[in-house]
Amino acid sequence: MTTTTLVAPISLSTDLLTGAEWSPAHTRELLHLAADIKARPVRYASTLHGKFIALIFEKPSLRTRVTFDVGIQSMGGAVVFLDHTQASASLGKRESIADVARNLDRWVHGIVARVYSQKVLEEMAANAGIPVINALSDKFHPCQALADFFTLEERFGALRGFKLTYVGDGNNVCHSLMYLAARLGVHLRVATPENYAPQPEVVSDSKRVARETKAKIELVNDPREAVSGAMAVYTDAWTSMGFEAEEEVRTKIFEPYQVNSELMSLAAPEAVFMHCLPAHRGLEVTPEVLDGPRSVVLDQSENRMYVQKAILHTLF
Ligand code: CP
Ligand code: NVA
Repeated sequence: MTTTTLVAPISLSTDLLTGAEWSPAHTRELLHLAADIKARPVRYASTLHGKFIALIFEKPSLRTRVTFDVGIQSMGGAVVFLDHTQASASLGKRESIADVARNLDRWVHGIVARVYSQKVLEEMAANAGIPVINALSDKFHPCQALADFFTLEERFGALRGFKLTYVGDGNNVCHSLMYLAARLGVHLRVATPENYAPQPEVVSDSKRVARETKAKIELVNDPREAVSGAMAVYTDAWTSMGFEAEEEVRTKIFEPYQVNSELMSLAAPEAVFMHCLPAHRGLEVTPEVLDGPRSVVLDQSENRMYVQKAILHTLF
């Protein structure tokens, strides 16, 4: 029997799990789209009309939660929020991750998830035909890095050859900066203590892409050497969510990696300070740097909204 389709099927689409899904050209296009969305938001006011997006948070969030919620609603979509209590009760505990994903697939048009393990996102994506967007995992934070490069492009123009230095823990934010720097032709130096370097497969994947785009990804241990001549100095928490048991040890090991006025003085005179937030004043950054005139942390925070709207516009 032939049927007339009255309800469009939820289309199969791609996911944003790592930031490596998109080619260098697509990544640049996404940043251009984010700029257009920021300049002319009304044009995109109905992009998500009739779409429901599940926001799942296993960990706390301010920026990611609010920017996705406001961003989705400002594009005409609706949000179903599953807080970390419900999510942790359901993700692999009350029922399997695969079952959660298969159910959500029947009701909503997309999943935005902040999880402890990247594997949870991969399992969700494998079991749901709808797009799954990484809102931070132990390994990657692609929405953050996209907003960071958008912020730099907005301020400095084209990013090819731009000198960015990341100082601190080779963590999720660092990994995503590496993937995106490689795609955008950025010269990224990463300074970490020896045992806190970025994961080897992220380094090799980034360097492989960097060879094509003429980006540079360099790993060093000395923060002073890394910062020398940088146009932007970036740091993040020394103890990420999920690593709280290591806090005391980390606080000692990372002390020489604090971004303070003295370290900033080694960067280019016009260099900006970046942090994904939340920041810990007196640990990874001093108050005079975080709250000082070179800090662009609130621009990064604001721009989360526009790149995420661009991601949603692209995936839907
Ligand atoms: N930078 C960031 O992702 O902030 P939240 O943890 O508050 O979402
Ligand atoms: N690396 C930090 C980022 C927080 C936005 C964490 O994972 O806790």
